[in-house]
Amino acid sequence: MTTQEIERIAVLTSGGDAPGMNPAIRAVVRTALSHNLEVYGVERGYDGLIHGAFSKLEARDVGGIIQRGGTMLLSGRSKEFRTKRGQLDAIHQLNKHDIDALVVIGGDGSLTGAYALSQQGVNVVGIPASIDNDIWGTNISIGVDTALNTIMDAVDKLRDTASSHQRAFLIETMGRECGYLAVMAGIIGGAETVLIPEVDISLEEVANAVADAYKRGKTHAIIIVAEGAGIKIQELARYLDEADVGFKTRVTILGHIQRGGRPSAFDRLLASRMGVRAVEAIMDGKFGVMVGLRGRKMALVPLEEVVANTRRANLEYYSMTRMLAR
Ligand code: F6P
Repeated sequence: MTTQEIERIAVLTSGGDAPGMNPAIRAVVRTALSHNLEVYGVERGYDGLIHGAFSKLEARDVGGIIQRGGTMLLSGRSKEFRTKRGQLDAIHQLNKHDIDALVVIGGDGSLTGAYALSQQGVNVVGIPASIDNDIWGTNISIGVDTALNTIMDAVDKLRDTASSHQRAFLIETMGRECGYLAVMAGIIGGAETVLIPEVDISLEEVANAVADAYKRGKTHAIIIVAEGAGIKIQELARYLDEADVGFKTRVTILGHIQRGGRPSAFDRLLASRMGVRAVEAIMDGKFGVMVGLRGRKMALVPLEEVVANTRRANLEYYSMTRMLAR
């Protein structure tokens, strides 16, 4: 399809919401309008696509959202879309609404869905948005920076009470399969130990590290546990209390608080750049790609490559958490 034939595009957000999705929607809509395209927002991610939840978006419809967390288009994890029937229904709706290209803003599952559509001839461009930072092909995804700032703030506050009571605080971060947030939180929050899905560590090793910190005169300890780590946080707390490591323990699960809040300056900028680049890709007739930050530049990465690879926590950074915990 040539640029001349692109007249109408649609945009949706899918999967776990990430702070910065709204600025990305705004950038897609306004860039498209500046190219004289019509833009439709699809509500509730792929479920809305299957059931035809399209509505036309104008410049004013995306006003006042740049600073808001969540997504004005709503999001979801669609089981129906994972089926062939669901995908065919989605394509039927795209055709029915004369949509020439679709922008999908979401995480790895959403981009896998985008790839499935592109395999069936739909013109798709993806934008990576997930606090987990587990998407291949981009240095960082929309939402990660805000989530890390939220975690840092929580760890700082928990450290105040940890040091006042000479306790070990066990703090759980999100990340079912990827320990990125936990490792980075470990560095910026000054953790004693970090537990992530990518590295096996025994209860005994953690207990020894914490007991050793106590013997070295530390007044408190911060232990970051990724939600997908092999050891569950409550089990670890019980073990440390029984092993008598010096500190008494307390557990805090940060949970969905990490997904909310105003997008940081970094995320607003990243989302705006990615939204603009996604529409430029459409204007250039480049489909089946995801916009990624490579170095300091925006690049187009084939969706095929994105979904064929998995991105996990950087083990060099993991070693750094250990070295800095002296
Ligand atoms: O993928 C983002 C994420 O927040 C993960 O870190 C977490 O494991 C998961 O979503 C939680 O999903 P839900 O909001 O569906 O419980």
